[in-house]
Amino acid sequence: MMRKSCATVTIAVLLVCAGLEAQSGAPASAPDVRTGIYDPSLDARVETLLRRMTLEEKVGQVVQYSAGQPTGPGTNRTDYEDMIAKGQIGALFNISTAKETNRYQRIAVEKSRLKIPIIFGLDVIHGFRTVFPVPLALASTWDPALVEQTARVAAREASATGIRWTFSPMVDIARDARWGRITEGAGEDPFLGSEMAAAYVRGYQGTRLDEPDSIAACAKHFVGYGAAEGGRDYNTTEISEHTLRQIYLPPFRAAVNAGAATIMSAFNSLNGVPASANPFTLRQVLREEWGFRGVVDSDWESVREVIQHGIANDRATAARKAFLAGVDMDMASSVYHDHLGQLVSSGQVPQERLDESVRNVLRLKFALGLFEHPYADEAREAQAMLRPDGVSLARTAAERSFVLLKNSPGPNSAPLLPLSNSGQRIALIGPLADDLPSALGSWAGLGRGEDVVSFQAALAKHVGEQNLIHLKGVGATGGGSDEDLAAAVAASARADVVILALGEPGGEMTGEATSRAFLGLPGRQQELLEKIVATGKPVVLVLFSGRPLTLPWAFEHVPAVLAAWLPGIQAGPALVRTLYGESSTTGKLVVSWPRSVGQEPLYYNALNTGRPADKSDLTNPPGGSDDTYVSRYIDERNDPQFPFGYGLSYTTFRYGSTEINASELKASGLTAGLHDGAARTRAVLTASADVTNTGSRPGEEIVQLYVRLNGTSVAQPVRALKGFQRILLAPGETKKVTFALVPDAFALWNDRNQWVVEQEKVTVWISPDSAHGAPATVQILP
Ligand code: NOJ
Repeated sequence: MMRKSCATVTIAVLLVCAGLEAQSGAPASAPDVRTGIYDPSLDARVETLLRRMTLEEKVGQVVQYSAGQPTGPGTNRTDYEDMIAKGQIGALFNISTAKETNRYQRIAVEKSRLKIPIIFGLDVIHGFRTVFPVPLALASTWDPALVEQTARVAAREASATGIRWTFSPMVDIARDARWGRITEGAGEDPFLGSEMAAAYVRGYQGTRLDEPDSIAACAKHFVGYGAAEGGRDYNTTEISEHTLRQIYLPPFRAAVNAGAATIMSAFNSLNGVPASANPFTLRQVLREEWGFRGVVDSDWESVREVIQHGIANDRATAARKAFLAGVDMDMASSVYHDHLGQLVSSGQVPQERLDESVRNVLRLKFALGLFEHPYADEAREAQAMLRPDGVSLARTAAERSFVLLKNSPGPNSAPLLPLSNSGQRIALIGPLADDLPSALGSWAGLGRGEDVVSFQAALAKHVGEQNLIHLKGVGATGGGSDEDLAAAVAASARADVVILALGEPGGEMTGEATSRAFLGLPGRQQELLEKIVATGKPVVLVLFSGRPLTLPWAFEHVPAVLAAWLPGIQAGPALVRTLYGESSTTGKLVVSWPRSVGQEPLYYNALNTGRPADKSDLTNPPGGSDDTYVSRYIDERNDPQFPFGYGLSYTTFRYGSTEINASELKASGLTAGLHDGAARTRAVLTASADVTNTGSRPGEEIVQLYVRLNGTSVAQPVRALKGFQRILLAPGETKKVTFALVPDAFALWNDRNQWVVEQEKVTVWISPDSAHGAPATVQILP
């Protein structure tokens, strides 16, 4: 059982550079927001309405159904209209046109006794009609402002159909590429994940939640869902409180702090207690420590699923346990509808507890302005979609999300990329060059294949049809005849350059319920790759995927590899501009890229162990005893193929030494700083390094700052990201990059379950990724 925190502290904020704030996971009182659901003026309206409600109407407000294309097992109900008229439904989802939302809304507002509007939700995850790159790709931009803009466009489009609630952002930390949902989040790091979480919330919710184009955000899945054992979706999680506090909770905290109006409870069990019936996380952490005033929605039937987890033997008990633990609203399972009224009448659930949840739902509806403006403007709907500014943002986002993994010399001894515009004959080979639905990724909202400008189409436009031959060679997941494969190889042999468009297709192999035990290229793609490389032609591999794939052969034999992820509707133009150097790559990995599946879970911010394998020249199989009795595999390296934070540019950068500037640092003073409003934002240490553009092209670099804490009461990661900045450097130019760190950069969840700064040795790196850089150290005194 997790202990109650002894600490009552306020949020600590780490200012990393101008305009960039990160929220820590430190416990806090209510978020520092007075708008949206935190607007105190809403309370009187909520109370007035609450007093007029019958028990049945109250239960109705905490009931939610999917009335469109299901995104989970069906509920077999069709009588929603009748239920709405009786006040038995508070929320609907999976409806996505203004006509439909208005039809249901009219019943709520005109026929139900209290005229309480319905709130309509949908999984608007990386765009609505204008589909942006998948979230893992968006995070790879390391550009929260850009991510915020994408969420704003999504809100503008979704709200035009009456959808005022998105089940996004997914802020689950994911350390295992086998988990298909790694595509939906921001990767493995809590600091970057917190930045992204807050950016999405700001983008969706806008400056005011009651603006007609704002939608409520939902940070999900609370909590630990990404730690599914074996990377198998919906699987059990076991997470220590220390890891929960330092790794999994911070992005949720950041979302709450940014004003996120709702939270979704997860499918997984957490240390034996289902996350959707977990009073420790839902009540103690979320409500008591963080002061969250919004709605906790369940995931799809996750309330009923506590029966399968094994903590209830019937639906009424499932309803009681989830509700008492703090799940306000039941998504799709109907158990609140069926049992909550009786549970309250019989005293098994206190009336006050029901009132609390109803208040949360009503507060959200008032905050969204739904009572004043319940209907979508059907005339605005079509005009809101695919506007030019959104489409152009989709291209920019895609360009910034690409990560250049390898760029070795081509035939003329210069790096193969960017390609030259000198009329070369290009063979574009592979099943994913014109797979339109795949480019959209999973959870593509209302995105349509016809909105996608494919890689093949954009490349044909750029190089001219006469210079391009495109053959699939093989199917994406299987199939493809020997003749087709041979034709692709023959066409490659006649080309000047071969571009391979390979990977895992977005729709079928990424997202929910797409865990994989093998992370190679599906079907016959590997065979195609090897045969084409054997032609001796210069090969560029454009890798489409929703996660890192284990392709050691490709990384050894293919000169240039670009991780394109699943780029959205502007896939083609973004790729062509990038490959031909009109835009340089700036993206960096937000996940450690594995060499083999056996390395998973793999993450840079790991603990050191007592027997670290930190020699760089370990042999396989192990040689002497120094190499044997260390934490390692006998048949694989420990280090990733590419580390977290890694990504190449078309220019090169040199990093100078890390310099630290701080007056005497005392643990007691820094701990006090975590708890004190003013001190928590005051820089206590600055770290700087010179970064030089050593290449011949201008380039942008994402400069990263990591720390390690030694001598602490609880072992800390070998490195932890605490800041990043984007800089632009002309060829030959040097800039001094300075980070100002506040007490939170040195804080940890200690052995007495408190956020503190301890007497500790701090190592700081300013570096291009999580595996390089020159360290500097400083001691924090007692
Ligand atoms: C299940 C998924 O886990 C969740 O992310 C999604 O929001 C809901 N279904 C609703 O579609």
